[in-house]
Amino acid sequence: MSREIYELSSKYGFFNRVIIFDTLSSTQDYALEKGERGDVVVARTQTHGRGRFNRKWYSPRGGLWFSVVLKSNGINSIEACLAVLRILKRFLRNVGIKYPNDIFVNGKKICGIIAEVRNEDAVVGIGINVNNSLPEFLNATSLKEETGKEHDTFALLLEILEEYERVMNMSRKRKIGEFRENQIILGKKIKVQLIKEEIIGTAVNIDENFNLVLIVDGEIVKINAGDVFLID
Ligand code: BTN
Repeated sequence: MSREIYELSSKYGFFNRVIIFDTLSSTQDYALEKGERGDVVVARTQTHGRGRFNRKWYSPRGGLWFSVVLKSNGINSIEACLAVLRILKRFLRNVGIKYPNDIFVNGKKICGIIAEVRNEDAVVGIGINVNNSLPEFLNATSLKEETGKEHDTFALLLEILEEYERVMNMSRKRKIGEFRENQIILGKKIKVQLIKEEIIGTAVNIDENFNLVLIVDGEIVKINAGDVFLID
């Protein structure tokens, strides 16, 4: 497996080096197995990219597929989400977060994030549809599709890493505020798919612990897991 390694002169010291592979099974699996804290593992294409709930993650060339290894803090994926969102906002209007950390543009998914814990570390996997094509059956879009032009994936990666570090240095209060303000589901009727049950209610808030607050049959329900779907 040939790889290119770039040392980073990271401003804040969270990321040390970027390791780029042409093809990997999954950057997430590689980072979990071999990554060190501060590593950013990138692959131009993944043969077994995976998403939350072990779903297949479609990862052809042209996309930005990477995993980072950071000290676990319980909200690593939320910070990643804010970093990607801030960068995508430079190119797009109508971009927001669908709880817990999918990024949507005009009702379609453009970025997915997964966080897994390994000892004291979190491995955060980020998949962004940039210039890649997408199968019709996915309710997904790409940066190219939304902006009508190609983007430099490596430049985008560096911008995201810089923003990610900036976000990590923000106060918890600011992170919650930004996470809440950018939700596309608040005030809307949603369905939450949990492992054993399904909840239907209205999303009303994100609380101070980053839980999603719902009103279900007049009662307040808080969730911090599951898959969220907008209903109508
Ligand atoms: C989701 O929306 O379910 C999360 C998708 C995460 C995909 C990324 S692509 C880079 C990294 N490697 C993987 O195998 N998965 C994550």
